[in-house]
Amino acid sequence: MQIITDPREFQNIAMAERAAGRTTALVPTMGYLHDGHKSLITHARANADRVYVSVFVNPTQFGPNEDLAAYPRDLDHDAKLAEAAGADILFAPKPEDIYPEDHATWVEVPSLAKHLCAKSRPIHFRGVATVVSILLHLALPTFAVFGQKDWQQLALLRRMARDMHMPTEIVGCPIVREADGLALSSRNVYMTPEQRACAPHLRKGILHIADLAAKGERNAAALREALTAYYAKHIPMGVIDYIEFVHPENIVPVTRLDEPTLVAIAVSIGKSRLLDNMLIPAL
Ligand code: PAJ
Repeated sequence: MQIITDPREFQNIAMAERAAGRTTALVPTMGYLHDGHKSLITHARANADRVYVSVFVNPTQFGPNEDLAAYPRDLDHDAKLAEAAGADILFAPKPEDIYPEDHATWVEVPSLAKHLCAKSRPIHFRGVATVVSILLHLALPTFAVFGQKDWQQLALLRRMARDMHMPTEIVGCPIVREADGLALSSRNVYMTPEQRACAPHLRKGILHIADLAAKGERNAAALREALTAYYAKHIPMGVIDYIEFVHPENIVPVTRLDEPTLVAIAVSIGKSRLLDNMLIPAL
């Protein structure tokens, strides 16, 4: 596996690969790779001739009071994991090489950045769309792979790629979980053992209301109330950012679950802001 830091060098290789007719895949990450990231690289490896993994803690998607400085980093570990999972190139640029001092161009998808995480992180998705657009222009991949853990991000990037006629397919992969159901996240390391012991209830609560929905409760407000009560009981130290029921592609809230509906939650446990979601089928 080759490690490249220079964007132009990476783009030159990517252009040559594409010109040679090879299928190429990009897996964008912010590093501190775990088995969730690994599953995306494995998917890419199984479906592409060349696999690129990017590791870039993107400053523009962090708000002023967020964890940019504290975000965990370990490039040696990332290189080992990416190589073992089958990556051909690890692209790890410096922030100043991605964003020149007078960087002035932004990519926004406002209608998909209104609800869920956008409410408490107003500039987040502008940063995500902009950096992924930059990465796609450098890597020119046949497809790019993202996790369903960040469902809103995946839906928004799919729309961006379609609207901008990008020659890249956006592919989504299922959430990888710990044995106890907690979705893997680079931010799980912020939790104390006590907080970590409660965290599996994020998923258990979602399964609980999915069960209520399967039994016929299709009112979003009633399901939200049931999940709020579940979290209050089982994760007393948790602070709920949101519990939302949205259309899985448009990310617009629904009041009734008449169609397949995404339930998405964000809960802070100590210093970790944790996400989870599930697609609830129609009855
Ligand atoms: P990061 O949080 O590092 O995640 C990189 C990719 O891994 C994302 O597509 C995310 O959805 C996926 N991922 C994380 N945990 C996962 C899990 N438990 N199961 C499956 N997939 C998982 O998301 C970002 O970085 C950034 O916003 C990025 C897209 C790289 C732009 O900066």
